[in-house]
Amino acid sequence: MKFSILTLFPDLIYNYCQDSILGRAQNKDLIQVEAHNFRDFTLNKQNHVDDKPYGGGAGMILQVEPIYRTLENMGLVKNGKKIKHPKTKIIIMDPDGKKFDQKMAKQFSKLDNLVLICGRYEGFDERVYKFVDEKVSVGDYVLAGGELPALAITEATARLIPGVLGNIKSLEEETFVEGLIEYPQYTRPENFIGLKVPKILLSGDHKKIGEWRKKNTKK
Ligand SMILES: C[S@@+](CC[C@H](N)C(=O)[O-])C[C@H]1O[C@@H](n2cnc3c(N)ncnc32)[C@H](O)[C@@H]1O
Repeated sequence: MKFSILTLFPDLIYNYCQDSILGRAQNKDLIQVEAHNFRDFTLNKQNHVDDKPYGGGAGMILQVEPIYRTLENMGLVKNGKKIKHPKTKIIIMDPDGKKFDQKMAKQFSKLDNLVLICGRYEGFDERVYKFVDEKVSVGDYVLAGGELPALAITEATARLIPGVLGNIKSLEEETFVEGLIEYPQYTRPENFIGLKVPKILLSGDHKKIGEWRKKNTKK
């Protein structure tokens, strides 16, 4: 699966994605992460991507043209219209969008290409939304840019792709799978400055451990 991220800060994307799970998944060719700097698609000499809002107001607005031209270069729009690709979705990072959750990550993980557009400044010229499928938010707070949301969505989605996680069992028992919150987990040492691991987990009795975990799983 390919993650295509439109951003003014490609290094933020590449630096995060080169390590750990996302780095390994790329090395194994299970995913590709590519950043597209829409500043490369401006038509003005100074490579401006933003301008003052019509009608006045605070801050700068991201212009539609560089984002449109980036999507055009990627073969996703033509003649002012989106080109339909059955297993591609274009989402735009927006605090006002649909709240991202595990269910959405699962749906995204079935795509061939997830395109994520990251805003900055005061956000986008409204006409950008004509060329996207969905607005997605990572929560009811405002960040300085869409890169953290795009990375969160990329990681949550990528780890659901078969082969990306070493141990598939960890996905089955995870928080939010079937609406459950995961049971408490412990590892060595058994006693840390008086804070002890529940005895049942040391018993080796898997039936009882299973019952304890079920009882301690929060609904
Ligand atoms: C400073 S914010 C713009 C906020 C905008 N003026 C508003 O009030 O909604 C700049 C960009 O960061 C991204 N962003 C900020 N918070 C976000 C969130 N909670 N979820 C998704 N994207 C977010 C969006 O791409 C947004 O266009």
